[in-house]
Amino acid sequence: MIPVITIDGPSGSGKGTIAQMLALELDWNILDSGALYRTLAYFMKENAIDIENFKENQDFLKKRFHVSFDPGIPGEPVRVLFENKDITAIVRTEEMAKITSNLAAEPIIREFIKPCQRDFMTAPGLIADGRDMGTVIFSDAKYKIFLTASAEERAKRRQTQLKRQGLEVNMRSLLQELEDRDRKDTEREHSPLIPAVDSVVIDTSNLNPEGVVKVIKTYL
Ligand code: C5P
Repeated sequence: MIPVITIDGPSGSGKGTIAQMLALELDWNILDSGALYRTLAYFMKENAIDIENFKENQDFLKKRFHVSFDPGIPGEPVRVLFENKDITAIVRTEEMAKITSNLAAEPIIREFIKPCQRDFMTAPGLIADGRDMGTVIFSDAKYKIFLTASAEERAKRRQTQLKRQGLEVNMRSLLQELEDRDRKDTEREHSPLIPAVDSVVIDTSNLNPEGVVKVIKTYL
């Protein structure tokens, strides 16, 4: 059985950074499921496919939807590769996050993405980052982590991240968007964002990434 470590939590809780650090250290594969949803949203937009005509275009999408991830360099976001292009900067915007969150609430979309996610489970192991990795997609995983942090701290982190990408954002609207998206992700009917009952919950508000990794290593 391929070992899987699931890392779930709201945006800005540190999932991406921690998943990247663990993937680089263990030399395991990485699945950024949020980026997978973002890429699908981008691809649908590019091909004028929406939720209404999704079903009739499903075969076309299935044939072409092959995404891969490169853990990249520490401190920079995990890179998203699609159709021989690095689309990291295109999909990691707040605008794309909002579109993605609406799309991700649709059961037909979640069913479509499910097998794509399971395909990432290859040797020597997988770090799976998302919202429902431990509860739904890899409910059989041996190690499950759920990261949290205060909304203010998460908005601050997101702002730093976006700044690094050259994007200026207003702190107040960022906090509002983050809280709206959290609410939508937590209250949705299908695969809501909740910690798996067998997960270890870590509040990262007052920890740096190295501190979080230390807690996780103790758990592992
Ligand atoms: O993690 P990230 O911010 O990139 O995720 C974007 C959106 O994708 C989330 O707000 C959520 O709505 C959706 N998502 C999801 N299930 C996952 C990962 C992301 O519904 N496993």
